[in-house]
Amino acid sequence: MSDRIYIFDTTLRDGEQSPGCSMNIDEKIRVAHALAALGVDIIEAGFPIASPGDFEAVHRIASEVHGPCIAGLARAAEGDIRRAAEAIKPAGDHGRIHTFIATSPIHMEAKLRMTPDQVLERAVASVKLARSLVPEVEFSAEDAGRTDMDFLCRVVEATIAAGARVINIPDTVGYMTPAEFGGRIRELIERVPNSDQAIISVHCHNDLGLAVANSLAAVENGARQVECTINGLGERAGNAALEEIVMILRTRADRYALHTDIDTTKIVPTSKLVSQITGMPIQANKAIVGANAFAHESGIHQDGVLKHQKTYEIMTPESVGLNTNRMVLGKHSGRAALKSRYGQLGVELDGERLIEVFNRFKLLADKKKDIFDEDLMALLSGDGGVE
Ligand code: KIV
Ligand code: ZN
Repeated sequence: MSDRIYIFDTTLRDGEQSPGCSMNIDEKIRVAHALAALGVDIIEAGFPIASPGDFEAVHRIASEVHGPCIAGLARAAEGDIRRAAEAIKPAGDHGRIHTFIATSPIHMEAKLRMTPDQVLERAVASVKLARSLVPEVEFSAEDAGRTDMDFLCRVVEATIAAGARVINIPDTVGYMTPAEFGGRIRELIERVPNSDQAIISVHCHNDLGLAVANSLAAVENGARQVECTINGLGERAGNAALEEIVMILRTRADRYALHTDIDTTKIVPTSKLVSQITGMPIQANKAIVGANAFAHESGIHQDGVLKHQKTYEIMTPESVGLNTNRMVLGKHSGRAALKSRYGQLGVELDGERLIEVFNRFKLLADKKKDIFDEDLMALLSGDGGVE
């Protein structure tokens, strides 16, 4: 089995389905260029049948963005598939139709009002039609996490036989737990006789906060494409966060020996661009890209990091595109961090003088949440707002 993990970015499709995150065409093109520079393998550029604007965005991305494969989403319906084929046409051999239909009992009965046999027939016909229009077809069994395993195996085998070269197993409602989802992927690969003719992909939602853990469990069990988004954007609680998947594989290369083609030094700039364009702020304690991800406040941690970065940092800030880590000066900070910050401001403090200023700093930090450089300079003259 290959040690390469394909990164399928769906920021422009599922990510855009985050409430309040819609983007105009020019914004989508800027994001698509950033994703190409980041090194993603596939950009899901949109859902062409959804609106004329979505069609136009996919079409322009397929014309203007080179490098990654450009995918267009289509339900398992002729109109959707033909529209997606038209939208991705300029990408030529680098175009992919991603067609899907739901396979779980609740979706088939309550939403599609179709029998399992009808769903199977539609899935096969859709893959065949898509294959007649483009060389690369991905099929998704929507809500695969809640799909009966025997039926899922039948659908996967039949859609591979119909020509799908990527089979995506979505945990559409984020219901799975890692052991369960990983087991599902392993069972599928073992039971479906032609599974070696397709790349098994996963697409996990974060309703229970497990999207990344579930994707990782799937990878451990043989999945080789991960669908994810920048900053974990996506429908409801979002999708697996690209930056987390990629940095787990890189930071724990000792455990996984799997690699992606992502230029990790572009992660933070891409994350900021997407946040700025969508207007969706990044929570400060978000892994990898949050403002606090490389910030240290407690004295013990600051002292440790100043002595050796690896004491409290398992990856370097530079590896994700940050210039440096950050020592936050607050009531938990210690003398080492204060001395270091003064040093950066051109003030050398030692011995009694350092203790004296440090004591004043602690009194101020008890009263004030944010200590700025101006506060530090004022503390030197004893004019630090401290009686
Ligand atoms: O969550 C989901 O099942 C999807 C499919 C369209 C892949 O987004
Ligand atoms: Zn989704």
